[in-house]
Amino acid sequence: MKLLGKTALITGGARSIGEATAREFALLGAHVVLADVLETEGQKVVDEICATGASATFVALDVLSEDAWIEAITRTISTYGKLDILINNAGIVSAPASIEERTGEEWDRVMAINVKGVFLGVKHAIPVMRLSGGGAIVNISSMRALGQFRTTDAAYAASKGAVTVLSKVIAGQCAKDSIRCNSIHPGPIDTAMLRAAFPDAQSMQQRMQRVPLGRPGALSDIVAGILYFASDDAAYTTGAELVIDGGALVY
Ligand SMILES: NC(=O)c1ccc[n+]([C@@H]2O[C@H](COP(=O)([O-])OP(=O)(O)OC[C@H]3O[C@@H](n4cnc5c(N)ncnc54)[C@H](O)[C@@H]3O)[C@@H](O)[C@H]2O)c1
Repeated sequence: MKLLGKTALITGGARSIGEATAREFALLGAHVVLADVLETEGQKVVDEICATGASATFVALDVLSEDAWIEAITRTISTYGKLDILINNAGIVSAPASIEERTGEEWDRVMAINVKGVFLGVKHAIPVMRLSGGGAIVNISSMRALGQFRTTDAAYAASKGAVTVLSKVIAGQCAKDSIRCNSIHPGPIDTAMLRAAFPDAQSMQQRMQRVPLGRPGALSDIVAGILYFASDDAAYTTGAELVIDGGALVY
């Protein structure tokens, strides 16, 4: 089992990419700490994981709250003794708007959850990872940080650009502590977030015309990349970007 004995904290674990990652990591032997604002949904996923005999705990976490981050990491250490892997997956999309239409309040909200939420988690994870001899941080950015900008919402793309650069700064500063940090850049993945953005068959079909492989990514496509960066398979990889987008950036 690839992650046997590792402890992994996964934000936004109550559904979609975070949920699929939590289920796979638990299957591979990790102790999973599933963190989300969706408490009922998150606890249900944890109960289902535990019913298989695997190991998981739910913690309520709004990534915007520094106190909640401290509590989540304290719970992780008191329950499992260490933190090896942090998956910063929680994120939101902004409703599409041109730059002129975007309000300052909407801009701040996207930046706060998508960027400050990652910063706060990393800030409090680094000291405990250092204590246990190292770790792996995986930040879920987006292909929108890297291209297709004509059809990209400015707030979302800028937030994911910030996450991408932040990941490299973390990699640079934390390599001496054997803490690696890499970013994943999904294209359109079949989740609640994607279905909200393209709610009908016609708009989804139009979106897929700009994806060479012609389909939305499956959750397993993304989980495979997250697992790679989180595991010892990527022991010599830090500060890297992994694009999983069906070729969308080629267009
Ligand atoms: N789905 C895609 O096509 C796609 C593409 C590129 C990048 N991404 C990124 O992947 C990540 C996961 O996306 P998804 O499609 O699974 O989204 P989703 O909306 O289905 O799930 C996001 C999860 O994050 C949680 N969350 C939101 N705000 C939070 C907060 N303040 N504190 C704690 N948890 C919070 C939600 O409750 C939810 O469980 C996001 O960072 C997203 O930007 C997704």
